[in-house]
Amino acid sequence: MCEYCGCQQIATIAELTREHDDVVALIGQVQGSLADRCLEDVALRCQQILAILAPHSVVEEDGLFPEMAEEFPDHVEVLRSEHREIDKVLGEATDGPPDDPTWPDRLVGVLFLLREHILKEQDGVFPAALIALDADQWERIEAVRARLVAASNTVTPTTLTPTTVTPTTLATDERDRL
Ligand SMILES: [Fe+2]
Ligand SMILES: [Fe+2]
Repeated sequence: MCEYCGCQQIATIAELTREHDDVVALIGQVQGSLADRCLEDVALRCQQILAILAPHSVVEEDGLFPEMAEEFPDHVEVLRSEHREIDKVLGEATDGPPDDPTWPDRLVGVLFLLREHILKEQDGVFPAALIALDADQWERIEAVRARLVAASNTVTPTTLTPTTVTPTTLATDERDRL
């Protein structure tokens, strides 16, 4: 992928759009499960939405939004605060359906907000970014995505089983070199 023909910006926006599409499909499934009053399924779908939004929102908040903030400060601030609100209500289902009897109604409200939020980005921020941003800015946004991908592929030392090589496990000539 080259930086200057526009394919990088198209790929960046295409990935964000694909994640939006997946989220919208899950919103439909949540609404179906809510209608069936199957709160276990509702909670599971909420967790799946959160799993998509976790890296997606970082790319927007650490990558795209800073590049747009000078020109559209109010829009960006609203979108950031909507992320917080959406995360809060969906996050209540992290360990399964919450006991709070007001949660299903609050969830319906926040799913509506999430759909509106996605439309605002797709019809507002994304087209504006495609016009306004230059190659260096797209490269910085893509670097945020690349860091997330690299981090998700990294096995942290704490997840590894410590392997200690002691002299007794080595052959005699190897022990002599220690
Ligand atoms: Fe967003
Ligand atoms: Fe988004």
